Amino acid sequence: MNKVKGKAIGTKMVLVMRTEEGIFGSNALCRHMAWPMHWGGKIKDGCLRCPLHQTTYHPEDGSVNEWSPAHYFPAYGRFLGKLRTPSSLKTYDVREHDGYVEIDLNS
Ligand code: FES
Repeated sequence: MNKVKGKAIGTKMVLVMRTEEGIFGSNALCRHMAWPMHWGGKIKDGCLRCPLHQTTYHPEDGSVNEWSPAHYFPAYGRFLGKLRTPSSLKTYDVREHDGYVEIDLNS
């Protein structure tokens, strides 16, 4: 449970996240500064956390939970957070079928 995997599909990098609430898909690049979240992204307290500045997103709809808090140095996080307007991750419909995960990039 609480796993994050990245997968290249054509020119897109997508994330598949498995949480206690289900399985979800999104764009893999953090909306803050485009960190590829399959490199160190984790699900914690029901949210996807980017490892770079610790922005968190709700996996089910991609909405922002917390924008660039950088808990290791909050003043730095606030400064970096102002460089970009908070925005949600693009999400995709995901389902499991015959042991495979299917993601609808047109959703
Ligand atoms: S790049 Fe993800 S929080 Fe800054």
